Amino acid sequence: MLLAIESSCDETAVAVIRRDADGVSLLTSLISSQIEIHREFGGVVPEVACRNHAQRIRPLVQAALEDAGVALDNITTFAATRGPGLASSLLVGLSYAKGLAAATGKSFYGVNHMEGHLLSPFLDSGKSEPHLGLIVSGGHTLLIDVRSFGDYRLLGRTIDDAAGEAFDKVGRMLELPYPGGPEIEKHAREGNPKAFRFPRAVLKDDPLNFSFSGLKTAVLYQLQKLEDPQSHLADICASFQASVIESLVKKTLLAAKETSHRIIAISGGVACNKALQEALATAVEKEGLELRLSPPALTTDNAGMIAFAALLASENRTPDDLNIGIDPNLKVCGVANR
Ligand code: KG4
Ligand code: ZN
Repeated sequence: MLLAIESSCDETAVAVIRRDADGVSLLTSLISSQIEIHREFGGVVPEVACRNHAQRIRPLVQAALEDAGVALDNITTFAATRGPGLASSLLVGLSYAKGLAAATGKSFYGVNHMEGHLLSPFLDSGKSEPHLGLIVSGGHTLLIDVRSFGDYRLLGRTIDDAAGEAFDKVGRMLELPYPGGPEIEKHAREGNPKAFRFPRAVLKDDPLNFSFSGLKTAVLYQLQKLEDPQSHLADICASFQASVIESLVKKTLLAAKETSHRIIAISGGVACNKALQEALATAVEKEGLELRLSPPALTTDNAGMIAFAALLASENRTPDDLNIGIDPNLKVCGVANR
């Protein structure tokens, strides 16, 4: 029985997971979102996030234990995200989880947030299966060859903006509320994806790498050219989204071919995008491959994915020392950020 805390950015989250003979059960996964608070600033304000984590963590742990119907004494292992993320935010969750482990004399695991995303589509099956993983979040765009738990090889990454970052920056240009991703998806549904022809970066020397900054600039120039940009909002959103999706799908399929993986999994906030899911599902089906997704609650930042990664860690390695600290630049496959 493992309790995990996630506090790397602006969501305070707590989950309880259990492994028994029947497999893995996520008993609860609670999220206390701060999106409304940060929306006013158009992005996450680290100090505000940290203060809110500190206020929310204790009642959220209580609520999670109640929701799971588990007493603190029954938790055998504690875990928390140790990076990458905002230093002041990470500190709150990690310190609290280590405090619980110290007070109860139980073991502790520090978790890489990106590994949490990467493995999240496998929570249902209870094990990390060999696959090609695409992580598309606010800070990262990564294509990873996953051979087994902990054995990861980086195949591609963004050379500038992350996919979610591009959604958020274009959202800001379009004066949409933060975060831009879900807003752009909403407006794109009403628009024509062929209305504007935005670029798709090819990157001949590194075909599995991504680049979204040229696309972002192309949208900006287009907006400057239009007399009344707001009247083209849906078409701009649809055309921008189509460009991002085309790059993601093409490179993912190329990486699948190169690695011969039969399973493709997508994770991270942008993986919530229904148009992306549909485009990938179509492409994957055409190749006779299998697509793994998680439900939205396990796709954007959450503690369920951290609990699952920690559970696998507890089955594969010895616990971490309680001296372990945060690492805001913690790397997965040698990539610190983006
Ligand atoms: O994984 P996540 O919750 O946090 C990070 O670790 O970054 O990802 C957040 C990102 C934001 O950039 C947000 O705009 C994007 O995921 N996002 C979406 C959608 N939902 C969230 N992007 C496109 N379409 C969506 N439906
Ligand atoms: Zn994340």
